[in-house]
Amino acid sequence: MILGISASGRPVGITDEVVKAVLLESGLEWEYISLAGKKINGCIGCTRCASDNRCKQKDDWNEIGDKMLEAEAIIFGAPNYYGTINALGHACLERTYSFRHQGKFCLEGKFGIAIGVDDQDKTSVVPYIKRMMVHNKMKILADFATDGYSQCYTCGFGHKCAVGSVYKKHGFLDEIKDEHLPPRFQEQEKNRCQAVEIGKQLKKKLG
Ligand SMILES: Cc1cc2nc3c(=O)[nH]c(=O)nc-3n(C[C@H](O)[C@H](O)[C@H](O)COP(=O)(O)O)c2cc1C
Repeated sequence: MILGISASGRPVGITDEVVKAVLLESGLEWEYISLAGKKINGCIGCTRCASDNRCKQKDDWNEIGDKMLEAEAIIFGAPNYYGTINALGHACLERTYSFRHQGKFCLEGKFGIAIGVDDQDKTSVVPYIKRMMVHNKMKILADFATDGYSQCYTCGFGHKCAVGSVYKKHGFLDEIKDEHLPPRFQEQEKNRCQAVEIGKQLKKKLG
């Protein structure tokens, strides 16, 4: 089984589209988890996981951690919030601290695919996800950053807001029309091809 995780706070956004695209392209048995709406605390450094590599905090992460242990490969996608990975994604990866004790690395050898979703800056999220995968001794198979879909297009005020993404691209508008909207993942030709390619790579390695 390969596991796709979308760390976005939006259940339907670019992150979930790109993660699902890689899963589907692989043709392998897969499971998908969206972190949207999940309650995931950060690691509290209590080290109660040191004896048995199990996190003792009780929230929505434990089930996700179990799925990570089950998976042969983890496709982790996360959006850029304020120039770094979003908090949910960070908390989810931070809790994998519990998998690394006394010379044991529970995720060791699993394939990892790191995907960042950004409006502008494509350089912060992917390296972060990769670093966390490396800390877990995972084997990074591929990574890429894809174009985001700014919340300013759907917040209801984007057309008349002087500090948002809509204004930056189009200036003030009477209304936001279809022609102004950013491309969804399936319309991002180059990025879509990357997802297809990575799906094929996964199939080759694990199929
Ligand atoms: C709180 C917040 C902060 C954001 N900050 C940035 C940012 O610094 N740089 C950027 O490129 N995009 C930023 N974005 C835009 C998101 O990365 C973009 O909307 C992305 O598509 C979100 O992923 P999703 O479509 O899966 O929800 C921000 C969005 C939010 C909600």
